[in-house]
Amino acid sequence: MRTQVAIIGAGPAGLLLGGLLTRAGIDNVILERHSPEYVLARIRAGVLEEGAVAMLDEAGAGGRLHAEGLVHQGIEIAWSGVRHRIDLNGLTGGRNVVVYGQTEVTRDLMDARRASGARSVYEARDVAIEGFDGDHPIVRYRHEGAVHELACDYIAGCDGFHGVCRQSVPAHAIHRYERVYPFGWLGLLSDTPPVSHELIYVLHERGFALCSMRSRTRSRYYLQCTLGEDVAQWPDERFWAELGRRLDPATAAALITGPSIEKSIAPLRSFVAEPLSFGRLFLAGDAGHIVPPTGAKGLNLAASDVRYLFDGLVERYRHGSTAGLEAYSQRALARIWKAERFSWWMTMLLHRFPDGGDFGDKIQHAELAYLASSKAAQTSLAENYVGLPY
Ligand code: FAD
Ligand code: PHB
Repeated sequence: MRTQVAIIGAGPAGLLLGGLLTRAGIDNVILERHSPEYVLARIRAGVLEEGAVAMLDEAGAGGRLHAEGLVHQGIEIAWSGVRHRIDLNGLTGGRNVVVYGQTEVTRDLMDARRASGARSVYEARDVAIEGFDGDHPIVRYRHEGAVHELACDYIAGCDGFHGVCRQSVPAHAIHRYERVYPFGWLGLLSDTPPVSHELIYVLHERGFALCSMRSRTRSRYYLQCTLGEDVAQWPDERFWAELGRRLDPATAAALITGPSIEKSIAPLRSFVAEPLSFGRLFLAGDAGHIVPPTGAKGLNLAASDVRYLFDGLVERYRHGSTAGLEAYSQRALARIWKAERFSWWMTMLLHRFPDGGDFGDKIQHAELAYLASSKAAQTSLAENYVGLPY
């Protein structure tokens, strides 16, 4: 088998790149380790920047998003029992975010791909990439018991943080920048109406909490938890009681609880690999970098990476120039580091740090008081939250 671009991974990065390439007439094959059902069962991000929305439109997968996504013009940040609104729209000259789950984004991209007839291989096992330092890269994989070989011009490593692509690069050719935070997020999804029509990020002495949503009838809540935590130790009643304790009394009173439909724990990490390209291999999305979810940037960064990579590939196939591909790593990293900084800052601002001490508490509250009183500080938060330009 042969293709122009072999895409490893059918998460948002791989599916979006594949969708755009297919529309541009560039042949591509997606190889995904898991089944479509498994991929769709992973509950992850929920907030889309306008840039990501525009790219989903460009890939022909934005219809349901516009019909069902919830446009949010602001977020709230609560501490010391008081909620403070950040007017995203007013502070950024009219920009908003859209709340629409990653699961739905993935489903829409999958449907568009199926309709386009482009090739995808799910349950592709033992994917191995070779020859990307030369002119003839090859991807080998196992599918339904047989070994296959896919020859290609380029490999897009869209296979997430634990994927095979970054790990196939020799250790000396890659620099890893990393920070692991001493806590995780315990998330709960329930078919209950959201406690508020906007997201509420909460700093409480018992730890961070986040009230988010997927629709007007489906809520997503998170609690900061310790790293050793086991979901089995968190029956729904315990989760709801703990969330109630971390919310201000009026919000806690308005909270509608119900049975969970999903509960999971995610560790928090900041990570960047440099560079993001190695000969004919390009890393995009979580394969190249991770942000803690506090700034809602993970999925959005995957989209901006794909923007730069797609533009480079179009330039190569339409105009015969590799300049865009050569600039990919540098262009993508410039935006990635700004999102890394913002996600780190939001994480430091809103979580309880086991070793923070009383000095750490005072600094956090001084920063929050400054945020509440300064339009400049709110504008900085708002322009990062809605997404910096591509
Ligand atoms: P992924 O979505 O990870 O997709 C990679 C794909 O590659 C997967 O389908 C995987 O099965 C496949 N793959 C892996 N290895 C191989 C292989 N060897 N061969 C073939 N295929 C392979 N972001 C937020 O903004 N908010 C959140 O609340 C949030 N929660 C998260 C919770 C968890 C548990 C995780 C892991 C991430 C979360 N994120 C969140 C981050 C966000 O979901 C990611 O940034 C986003 O999924 C990145 O998309 P991606 O396509 O780059 O990677
Ligand atoms: C979510 O709804 O899953 C979500 C929203 C905002 C974040 C992180 C996660 O910052």
